[in-house]
Amino acid sequence: MSEQKKIPVILDGDPGHDDAIAWTLARACGRFDILAVTSAAGNCGIEKSTYNARRICRLIGIDAPIAKGCPQPFIEPAMNAPSVHGESGLDGPVLPEPDRPLSELNAVELMAKVISENEDPVTVVSTGPLTNTAAFLLAHPELKSKIARISLMGGGISTGNWTPAAEFNILVDPEAAKTVFESGVPILMAGLDVTEKALIFPSDFERIRALQNPVSDIVSAWLEFFYIFHKSIGYAGAPMHDPCAVMALIHPEIFRMQPMHVDIETCGEYSRGATIGDVLGLSGKEPNATVILGVDRDAFADYLVDAMKFYGEAKKA
Ligand code: BDR
Ligand code: CA
Repeated sequence: MSEQKKIPVILDGDPGHDDAIAWTLARACGRFDILAVTSAAGNCGIEKSTYNARRICRLIGIDAPIAKGCPQPFIEPAMNAPSVHGESGLDGPVLPEPDRPLSELNAVELMAKVISENEDPVTVVSTGPLTNTAAFLLAHPELKSKIARISLMGGGISTGNWTPAAEFNILVDPEAAKTVFESGVPILMAGLDVTEKALIFPSDFERIRALQNPVSDIVSAWLEFFYIFHKSIGYAGAPMHDPCAVMALIHPEIFRMQPMHVDIETCGEYSRGATIGDVLGLSGKEPNATVILGVDRDAFADYLVDAMKFYGEAKKA
């Protein structure tokens, strides 16, 4: 049987525990050709998220170029989430120090280089505020057709998590989100509608810990850290926000999705950063996104646990 062609991807995120787990899954699943990693300001400032990105890449053996992203959202000052991820943006287990220099290009320049040079269209997996992706689209509209799609974690049709209306990634930079959603590039949106159903329980992260490989220990510690915070605010498990944007590319069959038009609210008195999804098709506008609304939680957990075996096998090889 011929091997499935790998999906060329750029990983753009603000690690962040769930970004880190998403990247760990992306590396382990064997389905992606990771062309570049770009850091975003979000969970922590750009210096910290870039440092975290470099440490994660060393840990999991991603040797693609890593570029620093935009330091600020388009209009508003940066907003971070130390209450969720700690002061470092990735508190918890000790990570190896970066072993390779940062790219001399910034995130937008590296995206442009990688996308223009790659033969096939590239998928951008964006798990932080959309500042880099939007800046790239504005700077290089001629390369839009070379983006296969943008698989993003952001928003929520039915609820927010940072305000009643807005999810964190979209709230941090609504103007960037608007640029992305109005770009015409196909969007796969993993918002809170699905990510809050993709819960990982202690029994799941204990299964990962039991694998006893160098990465599984750290992933289970990240999951436990994320679980403890979320338990304190009433969740039954750790919501796998960012891993949904990766898992939906490799196992779409475990998700429920609906194409719809999504507008980004940038002005509302109470609703800035909201993702307004036309669930009932009332606007007459064509869908601009495939919105993920549900997931088979047990299958999600099993695939995540299973993927982490890679790091034991990689070490043996
Ligand atoms: C999103 O916000 C961040 O804290 C997470 O990393 C995720 O990308 C969830 O709202
Ligand atoms: Ca994130």
